[in-house]
Amino acid sequence: VSDATRVTVGGAAPYDVVVGRGVLHEVGGLLGDAMQVALVHPVRLAAAAATLRASIEAGGRRVLAIEVPDGEAAKSTEILADAWSRLAAARVGRTDAVVGLGGGATTDLAGFLAATWLRGIRVVHVPTTVLGMVDAAVGGKTAIDLPEGKNLVGAFHPPAGVLCDLDLLAGLPAAEIASGLAEVVKAGFIADPEILRLVEADPTGAADAAGELMAELVRRAVQVKADVVAGDLRDAGPREVLNYGHTLGHAIEQVEGYRWRHGDAISVGMVFAAALSRTAGRLDDETADRHRRVLELIGLPTRYRGDRWDALLSAMAVDKKVRGSMLRFVVLDALARPAVLAGPEPALLEAAYAEVSA
Ligand SMILES: NC(=O)c1ccc[n+]([C@@H]2O[C@H](COP(=O)([O-])OP(=O)(O)OC[C@H]3O[C@@H](n4cnc5c(N)ncnc54)[C@H](O)[C@@H]3O)[C@@H](O)[C@H]2O)c1
Repeated sequence: VSDATRVTVGGAAPYDVVVGRGVLHEVGGLLGDAMQVALVHPVRLAAAAATLRASIEAGGRRVLAIEVPDGEAAKSTEILADAWSRLAAARVGRTDAVVGLGGGATTDLAGFLAATWLRGIRVVHVPTTVLGMVDAAVGGKTAIDLPEGKNLVGAFHPPAGVLCDLDLLAGLPAAEIASGLAEVVKAGFIADPEILRLVEADPTGAADAAGELMAELVRRAVQVKADVVAGDLRDAGPREVLNYGHTLGHAIEQVEGYRWRHGDAISVGMVFAAALSRTAGRLDDETADRHRRVLELIGLPTRYRGDRWDALLSAMAVDKKVRGSMLRFVVLDALARPAVLAGPEPALLEAAYAEVSA
């Protein structure tokens, strides 16, 4: 399809993120010398997997289908070990490839499988959620969970390419679309305010997987992530701005035992970060207020329980994003001007929390 656009993610091994409709046939061009391809996908996406499989086989390659449980349940040591055994039995070699088809959980598993097999083979991601397209499949982070915590075991292993086929979003529940849009809105606040204008002008269109606006929003959010990670694969510096809304957001996810969607938690976290920015005297009222407005337009939560502050504070204290002994928050000095606030006074945090507590 001619209207597909590409965003190149720079770095040591640059790759393209293709955004469009009907782009699955491009998979062949991303598989290099692979003769065998392990296609990792959840059972639920069997129909999309069949289409993708046909595209891969059309290039004369053999496909080893690895069906995994739905969502987060795939990111376990047991599922990973099973997948390793399947690769071993099929003698998947150094020049072969893994393709991950699914949401962020599936591409995280597929990426880590590829990162660990023979010390790293090629992986191509085909994300099927908005969150996967704009966040999880781009940037090279891969991980699985342990009973002790989420994403504790992982590797940096950038893909050879990412195919964002918006047609794959057709069956995605509205709540999952909204959750992914939280990361899109984040990209708007930290780097690309045009995203905010587009969502505000047509919130219904923004959440419509079949609409034209979706392609534009996904492309812009991918561009923001690409610009940031190109210069910082390993999370050492500039990449931290992608954590806007995530310090409190991760704490909410943890306190809720991961029953909240990621984007829902990040939505509250962004409203909090904006309140913190304003309370610290860094951000203007208008930009701070805009957070709640735009997030509510797409149906995302912007408040959280007032009686949970102590639990959130201890969750933040143990969060792996804490560096040294200080809590770190990405804040805004203005629209699209993120900065880091380290070790804010407890009173400042509590004042900001008062603004998001229900
Ligand atoms: N690697 C990274 O940089 C990074 C960044 C952000 C998030 N993540 C990870 O991504 C995961 C969250 O991603 P997610 O929200 O995509 O979750 P997910 O993969 O769990 O998918 C959400 C749900 O939607 C279903 N689904 C997926 N595609 C569908 C489709 N097209 N139609 C119908 N249902 C579909 C899934 O089966 C699942 O039940 C977490 O594991 C998180 O840790 C990773």
